Amino acid sequence: MAERLSGKRIFLTGAAQGIGLAIAEACLAEGAKLFLVDRDGALLDKTVAGLAAQRGSIGHATADISDGAAITATVLRAAAEIGPINALINNAGMNVFSTPLEATEEEWNRNFDVNVKGAWNCSKAVLPGMIASGGAILNIASTHSFTIIPHTFPYPVAKHALLGLTKSLALEYAGQGVRVNALAPGYVETQKAIDYWNSFPDPAAARANTMALHPGGRIATAGEIALAAVFMISDECPFMNAATLVVDGGLSQLQHPA
Ligand SMILES: NC(=O)c1ccc[n+]([C@@H]2O[C@H](COP(=O)([O-])OP(=O)(O)OC[C@H]3O[C@@H](n4cnc5c(N)ncnc54)[C@H](O)[C@@H]3O)[C@@H](O)[C@H]2O)c1
Repeated sequence: MAERLSGKRIFLTGAAQGIGLAIAEACLAEGAKLFLVDRDGALLDKTVAGLAAQRGSIGHATADISDGAAITATVLRAAAEIGPINALINNAGMNVFSTPLEATEEEWNRNFDVNVKGAWNCSKAVLPGMIASGGAILNIASTHSFTIIPHTFPYPVAKHALLGLTKSLALEYAGQGVRVNALAPGYVETQKAIDYWNSFPDPAAARANTMALHPGGRIATAGEIALAAVFMISDECPFMNAATLVVDGGLSQLQHPA
């Protein structure tokens, strides 16, 4: 069977671990060329060394997506190493959890710099090339993009804004061969989720509570999110644009348990 991502040259952020790493593995398995970016250079080096055992072409660079100039330079470097970028996956993100009255201006700015401006910086850097020859952008949003968990402010404000960015870019460039979509996972078993559970006095109980919330009694693996990402960045959904695909095991549709 043909590889589903053959001919794709993907710029993937937040690739050193978690969902980003799972997406990298899945894209490599489908024949894509990858350029991986993370701000944690040491972890990214280790990850790339591990991935190099798989077949495929991988470039990588340490960069912070909130730094527009650094991202412009990194996209140029990526194009020189793997060819013009025709797919961008804006995966890098971070939790900033507080309450509306306790969150500081620094937390607000950090949250928006990474979770929204970072995706805009990367999009801005790849879009001129995509407008010339086609491409797809996928933003990793969240169920926090349309629902609220109290005490997680201002993270969901930024994830809501990421859907605004998705739709704005999608409609602006729809006639120019560029698709822009969002993928909204619910809870996923990653370090970010573990850090969240560890923020409670009893992390094991917090983890069990999260599992119990879910209609199927469990949360997603990073690999299950990667399966959806491969589909959305592939040519298998050419008319999907400005869309948000929710992958949360049904949690966000549950009114309350029976
Ligand atoms: N884990 C979940 O439950 C979950 C649920 C819904 C959405 N998401 C979203 O999925 C994405 C990935 O989450 P994850 O759980 O794999 O997180 P993670 O913390 O396991 O990995 C995120 C990676 O992004 C990198 N990163 C963070 N800020 C960066 C920056 N400014 N520049 C470059 N790299 C940066 C980190 O170094 C890290 O390697 C995020 O956008 C997150 O909001 C996660």
